[in-house]
Amino acid sequence: MEKIRNAITTIANFPKPGIQFRDITSLLECPEASRLTVEKLGHKCIDIDCNKIVAIEARGFIFGATLAQELSVPLVLARKPGKLPRATLQQQYKLEYGQDTLHIHRDSLQEGDRVLIIDDLIATGGTALAVVKLVEQVGAQVTHACFVVALPELGGVSRLQKAGVRVDYLLEYDSE
Ligand code: PRP
Ligand code: MG
Repeated sequence: MEKIRNAITTIANFPKPGIQFRDITSLLECPEASRLTVEKLGHKCIDIDCNKIVAIEARGFIFGATLAQELSVPLVLARKPGKLPRATLQQQYKLEYGQDTLHIHRDSLQEGDRVLIIDDLIATGGTALAVVKLVEQVGAQVTHACFVVALPELGGVSRLQKAGVRVDYLLEYDSE
């Protein structure tokens, strides 16, 4: 796991003062660490009883796509506004810095689906919780969520757990 940690860079004061930005672009530029990340995520997720993965734009797509292939489940994209061509459901959410909206195609999820959320990082949990609400709009349920990086101090991990989601991640960082 240290190989993965060493490949993730920390950029101080980005995108605003006081934020320690955990940057996965350096991880992606290192094929060995990147391959290892996908492998470890696969090990975490292989026994999860889900029938769909929802990956969150943009950085969640990178890991969600390979995992969906590995687990042989459909990949559903949660996207920012104006990107999905068919009818969508939408949910607004607050970010660690700012506010945004996520959409999914209305017909991509059905009542009773058991969803695994994949994203690169969980901080406040606002993004992942927006997906939980989106999924619930169709009578489906997010049972698990898996991340490369968690910042538990920012509360997202426990917020998701309180919402009934089993949370897993590869690496934990302090917010300092
Ligand atoms: C980042 C990160 C997570 C989210 C975590 O995405 O990739 O999706 O923030 O924050 P939260 O737990 O406080 O909600 P961001 O929206 O910055 O953009 P990107 O993935 O499109 O680069
Ligand atoms: Mg993101």
